[in-house]
Amino acid sequence: MSEPVRIGDATLYLGDCLEILPTLGKAGAVITDPPYSSGGAFRADRAGSTAKKYMGSYGRPAAVDIDVVGDSRDANGWAFWATLWLTQCYRMLEDGGPCVIFSDWRQLPNATNVLQAAGFVWRGVGVWAKPGYRPMAGRFAHQAEYFPWGTKGATPWDYTKECLPGVFDHAAPGKEREHQTEKPVQLMADLLKVTAPDATTVDPFMGGGTTGVAAVQMGRKFIGIEIEPRNFDIACRRIEQAYAQRPLFAAEPPKPHEQLGLESA
Ligand SMILES: C[S@@+](CC[C@H](N)C(=O)[O-])C[C@H]1O[C@@H](n2cnc3c(N)ncnc32)[C@H](O)[C@@H]1O
Repeated sequence: MSEPVRIGDATLYLGDCLEILPTLGKAGAVITDPPYSSGGAFRADRAGSTAKKYMGSYGRPAAVDIDVVGDSRDANGWAFWATLWLTQCYRMLEDGGPCVIFSDWRQLPNATNVLQAAGFVWRGVGVWAKPGYRPMAGRFAHQAEYFPWGTKGATPWDYTKECLPGVFDHAAPGKEREHQTEKPVQLMADLLKVTAPDATTVDPFMGGGTTGVAAVQMGRKFIGIEIEPRNFDIACRRIEQAYAQRPLFAAEPPKPHEQLGLESA
């Protein structure tokens, strides 16, 4: 395993999460967007290029030519494999820590099952709604993706915390996207609100690093893993840029007396 890249509070690993997760110590949260392995109705098109499965067939050119690794498992194969890495996430998480995994409509029943198979208490299914996305004549549009989530055991109620919505409206990244299945940074920032401010969030399938970008912008600690070297380089660059611009996104601007270098009263 190669040495991780460290950018501020972000630690980024190039490799297979099944090999890297067992080497990690405790973490506060998992938020991740694994290969869904769900595009394509039949064996032949399921094994085809993800650019075609997820983008090309809808008349949009693939934004990038780096296919999503590991996206051709059938439903059972995906479930066995997902249980392996989720079990590692469970081991690694601190008690009560949240685990959030993205899914599409086809893989959703399996995704809620594997979360529980790994040991998590299933807490619900959030929705990422993409307004106007993928209209289909005479049918309901596939305009949402889902994020089943759970916790490692019990989580006591804390009534001082913000109430979070369960549905998030965000347009999918457009021409600027650098990963075929890139998530909006704001969506990942919304999801990070379920984690404690001092928690380290792990994304075992970081792709182009969107969870990491959001974490860095929010001043959160992050560990990302990506198997595809070109995606890994994209993630490193995006997270580095986010880190360089971090003062612009500081959640709380310094108080006037701090700016002047004065002691507070
Ligand atoms: C759905 S994409 C994540 C996209 C990401 N959310 C973003 O916004 O850029 C899943 C990523 O997992 C990576 N991947 C697939 N199998 C992996 C494995 N075993 N370990 C680590 N990464 C893996 C793929 O290369 C792909 O980039």
